[in-house]
Amino acid sequence: MPSLDDFEQTAKEKLPDWIMNYYATGTGEEQTLQENKAAYKRLRFQPRIMCADKHRDISNRVLGYDVNIPIGVAPSALQSGAHPRGEMATAEGAEKCGTVMIMSSWGQVLIEDVAKSAPNGILWMQTYLNKDRRNTQNIVQRAEKAGFKAIVVSVDSPCVGIRKNKGYQGGDQFIKTLKGEVAAKGFVNYQGAVDDIAKARASGDDRLFKYAWDQSLSCPKWEEVEWLKTVTKLPLIMKGIMTVENAKQAVAVGAKAIIVSNHGGRQLDGLPASIEVLPEIADAVKGTGVEVYVDGGIRNGSDVLKALALGAKFVFVGRPALWGLSMDGADGVAEVLRTLEHELKVTMTLCGCSRLSDIDRSLVIHEAKLKCKL
Ligand code: LAC
Repeated sequence: MPSLDDFEQTAKEKLPDWIMNYYATGTGEEQTLQENKAAYKRLRFQPRIMCADKHRDISNRVLGYDVNIPIGVAPSALQSGAHPRGEMATAEGAEKCGTVMIMSSWGQVLIEDVAKSAPNGILWMQTYLNKDRRNTQNIVQRAEKAGFKAIVVSVDSPCVGIRKNKGYQGGDQFIKTLKGEVAAKGFVNYQGAVDDIAKARASGDDRLFKYAWDQSLSCPKWEEVEWLKTVTKLPLIMKGIMTVENAKQAVAVGAKAIIVSNHGGRQLDGLPASIEVLPEIADAVKGTGVEVYVDGGIRNGSDVLKALALGAKFVFVGRPALWGLSMDGADGVAEVLRTLEHELKVTMTLCGCSRLSDIDRSLVIHEAKLKCKL
């Protein structure tokens, strides 16, 4: 069975540099991007022996929906760059595995078409708190009408980070780097502010790249979340929580779940790895009923088990799903998820765990706490 690193290598060989660069790079010196993965390597297992069963059950419920595996697909933009069917294929892949796909509002397929491609999928819709509320309301209400089950609000993007990917330094440059399928499709789900969108299209920004960019990265305040609750009945999930204080604010504003995330190292460089802050954040919201998920740096089943042990109810992978998508569309996304499922089950057994309820913090220790200092 190939590893997620194998999928990444295949994507590197298959995808044009400019789109691989967009997907793979982070911000600043890419410290957070690298730390997201390196931090998992600083964690070691403390297995229980002579207690594992042959059968392993890793099914769960998230926000009241049954999932086969505690692993889902994080939102990522411009998926037509990885496969012509883009977000539709990703949704199909997640549906095949009985798990969640979060669709990016920077997607290039209509929300309604993604819903049609995965009628039995568990689809959540990501949105920014756009400058013009009509755009956010349109995205959210169309998603609700199309059967999406939750709204994921990105709260870590008041502006774009200082991206290593030189084509992402600013709207104009970013637009110039986009080619082919990706450029042709544009930001199809920006439909709310009809008048300004018509003006943007007439101005030559006919794929709405610059318009959507300016709308999405616009320094929103918490009152935008209060407003958002008035336009949808769907549960709100705050994505981009990296401190206990942020988590408490998200709980106070009515989030039903939070995603501990540093945007895959693509926004504020210098943030800790998401796995490093997960335990304290999970402790801080214990007893509130708010579910805690995590993304960032998860590249194998061992990482998944560490995240579950340190307080996550569910984990998301972003880039690995894109590598699977580029490799073989929906089947490639499903293969990535099934690889993680297999690796998680084997690692659980080796740790003496047969079901998710067997997993707790005692399974993991930070290398700094190991007694034998050679
Ligand atoms: C990114 C934006 C779309 O990370 O969230 O590229």
